[in-house]
Amino acid sequence: MSEVTQLTPEQKRNLYHDGYVILKQAVSKELVEAARARIRCATKGENLGGTKEMTDLVNASSITPIVREAMGEFDPPTACQVGVLKPRGPGEHFNNLGYRDKDMPYYGAEVHMDGNITIMAPQEPQQGTPEEIYLRHFASGPKGDLGRSPDVMGHNLGPLFQDPEMTLGLGSFTAFAFVCLNDQTEPGCGQTSIIPGAHHAMEQFFRWQRSVNGHMGPEGPGWPRLNYSSPNHCGMHYLPPAIRDYYCDESSKTTPDGVRWPKPMQVLMEAGDACITVFNIPHSGSRNENGSESRKNIIFRLRNKRRQPNVVVNGVNDHPDRGQLCEWLEYEEGNNPWERSKDAMCHMWQEWEGMQQIIAEEQAREGGEKQFNIDFDAYIQQDRVA
Ligand SMILES: [Fe+2]
Repeated sequence: MSEVTQLTPEQKRNLYHDGYVILKQAVSKELVEAARARIRCATKGENLGGTKEMTDLVNASSITPIVREAMGEFDPPTACQVGVLKPRGPGEHFNNLGYRDKDMPYYGAEVHMDGNITIMAPQEPQQGTPEEIYLRHFASGPKGDLGRSPDVMGHNLGPLFQDPEMTLGLGSFTAFAFVCLNDQTEPGCGQTSIIPGAHHAMEQFFRWQRSVNGHMGPEGPGWPRLNYSSPNHCGMHYLPPAIRDYYCDESSKTTPDGVRWPKPMQVLMEAGDACITVFNIPHSGSRNENGSESRKNIIFRLRNKRRQPNVVVNGVNDHPDRGQLCEWLEYEEGNNPWERSKDAMCHMWQEWEGMQQIIAEEQAREGGEKQFNIDFDAYIQQDRVA
């Protein structure tokens, strides 16, 4: 097993610029094999996210000291997302973006920000006004028809809004750790896919949203919740359209309606490798078309303990300012969790305690923070017609 307990300065520079870093063989063969064996003997539908074989991939591996050093204290995960994707071809079904899976380029990637509510995609094109489609869609979640409310919960267990005032449409945390349990060195095996560098653009977008009216995430400025022009008339805008457009060019592949999609980078890893990313990175799973076995990435969501020292984060919740099933948590007087999370989304590096020196050096070298030439204001107008 690797004796490495911290990132090298070079790895920290990469994490700053690209938003991710791959840790080769961060997890021992014994831990990988134990997790694989547990997956092999799972009963149908069993949730393995809370098993020791999964959580040990972080708790008993070099990932814990490495992330502690780079990011800071975090709760040892007691749960995780077991990302198993069986080999399959392109599907006829509508995906969460409202397009047929087979029509979505780049192995069907549905690049998104984490912490967003997802309701199962309608499999028939939706009729009616945008308002009718919206209300019908969010009434079809596990808690039924609550109207437009922060109590609405998705099939992914995320709330429609984080806060009672409905000013924050995304949950957030500090870091992802993806642990790879099978060979994913050839593209098209279901890899986690990301847009390197886009974490900086997302941070700039969040700051802009906050500056406009304090609302952030979907249903904040420049980020309509639903895409009524998608083929099923009820797709999720999983990314702000301005960000999606910025990462497209003439070489970008399109869906049949001519819309361009950013090409994500597949994270190529082998069993025992892990990928650490910042929360702000747009990412997706992808279709396992070429794999000789199921793709197995075990996904952990970690939050710097300083954001909410009195809240225990379980490692799978993508909206930890609320409970796993959207319960409202108690916060002491003067502790506004929504504002703290907005701060973190707008200033992502503040929660990376061990990165401060490298970031200062890089920003000094580049003359400050990265700046993107994106006219976010131009997208406000589109909110009204979307
Ligand atoms: Fe995600």
